[in-house]
Amino acid sequence: MKSKLELSARLAETLFEYRNGTVLIHGLSVEDIAARHGTPFYLYDSDVFVRQYQRLRRVLPEAIDIYYSIKANPHPKVISIFVGQGAGCEIASGGEYARARSAGAAPERIVFAGPAKGREELEYVVSHGIGEIHLESFEEMETLERLAQQCNTTVDVSIRINPSAALGGGLLMGGQPTAFGFEEETLREVTQAVNNCTHLKLRGIHLYTGTQILDANSLLTHWQHAVVVGKQFADLVGAPVQTLDLGGGLGIPYFAHEQELDLDALANGARTLIDSAQADPKLASCRFMVEPGRFLTGPAGIYVARVRSVKACRGTTFVVLDGGMNHHLAASGNLGQVVRRDYPIVNLSRSNTADPTTVVIVGPLCTPIDTLGRKVTLSRPHPGDLIGILQSGAYGLTASPLNFLSHPTPAEVLVRDGTCDGITRRGVAFG
Ligand SMILES: Cc1ncc(COP(=O)(O)O)c(C=O)c1O
Repeated sequence: MKSKLELSARLAETLFEYRNGTVLIHGLSVEDIAARHGTPFYLYDSDVFVRQYQRLRRVLPEAIDIYYSIKANPHPKVISIFVGQGAGCEIASGGEYARARSAGAAPERIVFAGPAKGREELEYVVSHGIGEIHLESFEEMETLERLAQQCNTTVDVSIRINPSAALGGGLLMGGQPTAFGFEEETLREVTQAVNNCTHLKLRGIHLYTGTQILDANSLLTHWQHAVVVGKQFADLVGAPVQTLDLGGGLGIPYFAHEQELDLDALANGARTLIDSAQADPKLASCRFMVEPGRFLTGPAGIYVARVRSVKACRGTTFVVLDGGMNHHLAASGNLGQVVRRDYPIVNLSRSNTADPTTVVIVGPLCTPIDTLGRKVTLSRPHPGDLIGILQSGAYGLTASPLNFLSHPTPAEVLVRDGTCDGITRRGVAFG
């Protein structure tokens, strides 16, 4: 319990300041922001997005390009922060393509992965320009070849590989039966098939194993494996690899037992890996890529909701908020988590050290799975207080069942340079 408190206190310290009975973010009162935009809402700190990008940029060798995986937080204002820092975009649909472009991403700085790309969206991205499409099935390959032929153009592609071994992540997408990419064991057959497509230009491979990886060694082992597969690919095509997409998956701590990803260890391992890869002519001129989502956005977001009531039931204290899993499915533990644990949660209306108590925090839905905190210790909440769920900038609003029970959808507010910008309006539920 002590360490859970420490995690929320440490995270809160980097985001807020408590002064004269109010929580301030960049000098702005969170209560004033709530009054202006209505609760619940998502609050994003622009400096934290930038900080996360720059931390990663500093530790990765120059040869590794960073592509922001926009599924983590597809708000164009958020995307534009990373594009402004120099990131490319990894997208998973035509809709994400439109968002990336409206955020200022250049077409050649966009790559498109995803297991069920449709003809219409492929046509849309091909006609508007795209850096690369990462192929995930034979059907998609044929559709794209026909499309490129009809448009009298050539499309750059890489092959998404489902690696033969899973390497320690929260939600695994490789090394086991999944619908993502081609099995590593079929690399020869797939490579030949793409090479037979006269309108597809094969550049390289893409490996993504899982998300929320907090162990630098697991990530490095996965990247090392990608290099090995890259060399096999070069042998099969008889030419150097041009693109080696190492995937995303860099984690952030949410729970008491989790430690920050060791960026120094990642830096050292990545440097050694890239130096030795580049010494091989098969990879000497390769563009390496990573495509993180959660690491770049998670720490910058807070889901803020107001306490509607505090009630005791059979020895347990329930704090009932005006928003819950309808806005923040991941915090309720229902977005693929195997074990449901509590995100770091703080009372934004009282000092962090005031009158600690342990409660259950629930949302407004008529289901017991709408529970945001099962055993949360925080300054005693009172009706009307603002509660903040930290680490909520990734897979929050975008990954939630917003229409369930028809409550208003939350606003999104971006704090930047001491001002706050309502980047999404709160929705209207009735009237
Ligand atoms: C292909 C691909 N790339 C990147 C990501 C981003 O992963 P993360 O947010 O864990 O970095 C995902 C997430 O599902 C993905 O499927």
